[in-house]
Amino acid sequence: MNAPLMAGEVAAGSTPVGPVLHVRDLVKSYDGPVILRSVSFSAYAGVSLAVIGANGSGKSTLLKCLIRLTDPTSGQIEMLGQDVGALGPRALRRFRSRIGVVWQKHNLVPRLSALSNVLHGVQARMSGPRSWWQWAAPAEVRAEAMACLGRVGLADKALQRVDSLSGGQQQRVAIARMLMQRPEIVLADEPDASLDPQSGEDVMRLLSDLARQDGLTLIVISHRLEHTMAFSDRIIGLAGGQITLDVPTAQADPVKLRRFFDKPPE
Ligand SMILES: Nc1ncnc2c1ncn2[C@@H]1O[C@H](COP(=O)(O)OP(=O)(O)OP(=O)(O)O)[C@@H](O)[C@H]1O
Ligand SMILES: [Mg+2]
Repeated sequence: MNAPLMAGEVAAGSTPVGPVLHVRDLVKSYDGPVILRSVSFSAYAGVSLAVIGANGSGKSTLLKCLIRLTDPTSGQIEMLGQDVGALGPRALRRFRSRIGVVWQKHNLVPRLSALSNVLHGVQARMSGPRSWWQWAAPAEVRAEAMACLGRVGLADKALQRVDSLSGGQQQRVAIARMLMQRPEIVLADEPDASLDPQSGEDVMRLLSDLARQDGLTLIVISHRLEHTMAFSDRIIGLAGGQITLDVPTAQADPVKLRRFFDKPPE
């Protein structure tokens, strides 16, 4: 077993052999002002990359562009060896199935059990109604869903309705559902935002540990400076529609980082 890594250290064995994501000159506007002016950066295998920026600076827009939940205005995104902009509908669906996403709002089905919700994660790579209900899922899929719940520390809550779980537990169910997808890259947009400080930290640590254990690239947005510092290997900062900071976390100056968390002047 690997020794736990200090914040900012890059996992041994995950030394970049090449970027898993290359963004070049990305421009985005939603029929109005330009949100992303010219964004270029890379992300490497097994490296946790934090994206910081003030409210409205375009962090979520950037994440959405990466998987074409919104179409970029121009620019190039190359991810997992694919030219994302060139993908047709079927290829885009297959591509998205390789990307795990954790949102601030987890979109679980409240009246279903934790296990049923996690089983939904398999739909990204396996279709058919049998994966929809835990009582009808094939045994091996069910066992994998239980293992995913175990990894997020919720095996004992498998049969409990998710609306009876705490906010932090619900977010962990959402993470287990994402693991069920067997993703190659994880995008997380403020997974800690709706949670109390302790649960938020627990969720960030869990995501970071899981990514490290599985050698996954994690691209994470957090509004908490201390989480950004503790749970990333590299930080990029968005301001004025551009990346104005790109540093290894271990070399980041907290005073400079703090400016990215302040609201821009009106
Ligand atoms: N679907 C949309 N249509 C029009 N404008 C949008 C849309 N989504 C976002 N915007 C605008 O784009 C800008 C960037 O929004 P975005 O949500 O990407 O910022 P953010 O950095 O994630 O902010 P926050 O920290 O508040 O989450 C904002 O001015 C927002 O109002
Ligand atoms: Mg956002």
